[in-house]
Amino acid sequence: MVLNTIREADLKNKRVLIRVDFNVPLKDGKVTDATRIVAALPTINYILSQPGASLVVMSHFGRPKGKKNPDFSMVPVGKKFEELLGKPVKVASDVIGPEVKKEVEALKPGEVLLLENCRFYPDEEANNPEFAKELASYGDIYVNDAFGTAHRAHASTEGVAHYLPAYAGFLIEKEVKFMAPLLENPDKPFVAIIGGSKVSSKISVLESLVKTCDTIVIGGGMAYTFLKVQGHAIGKSLVEDDFLDTAKNFLAAAAKKGVNVILPVDHICADNFAEDAKPVTVDAIDIPENLMGMDIGPKTTKAIVDALATAKSVVWNGPMGVFEFASFAKGTEAVAKALAASKAITVVGGGDSVAAINKFGLADKISHVSTGGGASLEFLEGKTLPGIKALEK
Ligand code: 3PG
Repeated sequence: MVLNTIREADLKNKRVLIRVDFNVPLKDGKVTDATRIVAALPTINYILSQPGASLVVMSHFGRPKGKKNPDFSMVPVGKKFEELLGKPVKVASDVIGPEVKKEVEALKPGEVLLLENCRFYPDEEANNPEFAKELASYGDIYVNDAFGTAHRAHASTEGVAHYLPAYAGFLIEKEVKFMAPLLENPDKPFVAIIGGSKVSSKISVLESLVKTCDTIVIGGGMAYTFLKVQGHAIGKSLVEDDFLDTAKNFLAAAAKKGVNVILPVDHICADNFAEDAKPVTVDAIDIPENLMGMDIGPKTTKAIVDALATAKSVVWNGPMGVFEFASFAKGTEAVAKALAASKAITVVGGGDSVAAINKFGLADKISHVSTGGGASLEFLEGKTLPGIKALEK
């Protein structure tokens, strides 16, 4: 996949229309995690450093379902953006319309206008060509740096690219640079660690990564479906009976390819799903009838850490247990620390594993922490992301 990148664009004296993913967590009107804003700054600063360039920024925020709703306004996000950028950011009165047109046309070189939430219009998610054309009329050049939304074929992420010269920003370039080799030619040995609660939401990524990985670790709630298929007792643990055949077929395919599959060999269990539930270590694969698996046990953790010791590339998506509950966070924490200590190229994607990496303060020790949740999962599943495809040469 070869992308048109912003390096190749002549941005001098241009009004640049950029799509970013500023869909950030907000509490009491304040941004609580600005990672996505910070991640877009290299591209934004680069554009603003070009003589005569000005910037129209668009993003969605939350899911306002195609209606104007002050709870989903970009204003608080704009404040944080302004603070981090260190120069004034005007938030437009709307997304489209004569007023916005005037605000756009009044932009002087070096100035920044942040449009209101592009999802205030149903045309955004419907990828309406007329709406995309209207957005495209705001710029001479389109730059997409919204990796987190690249899996959506929306007007601001895909449609606009049909009407303007379209380039990838540095963030999209970096995300692709770290993730594409995992699907094509990873440095070996390549270890994939996939966790989370459901086989149904992770089976596609397992089936994709098994093509290039040497070892695949299956942890989290989804592991119990795999253990059940192997004939183990799983007590009251989470199970997706509809996916037993899928799990069985996956294990058979992995075995045929000679991929080493690591499943839990011991567990931290509880008798109910609660934060204050008493943790019980089960030093065996089989789980007693009255207990449910809540985290991987120490032997499983050691097996994962050992596999990581020789790895040259590692990807991690999905926690190993209920890490939101302190008593059941050890497995996920140990995996996060092992990744941080690893000399391999380490890539972490998916909301929960990124949250875990941040919770344990290890983000700066990971080669690449993806800014995409759904987008990174779909990328690793080998799917074509429409927002990225639109930027291909
Ligand atoms: C995300 O947070 O994953 C992206 O911003 C995409 O948001 P969406 O799932 O509402 O499209």
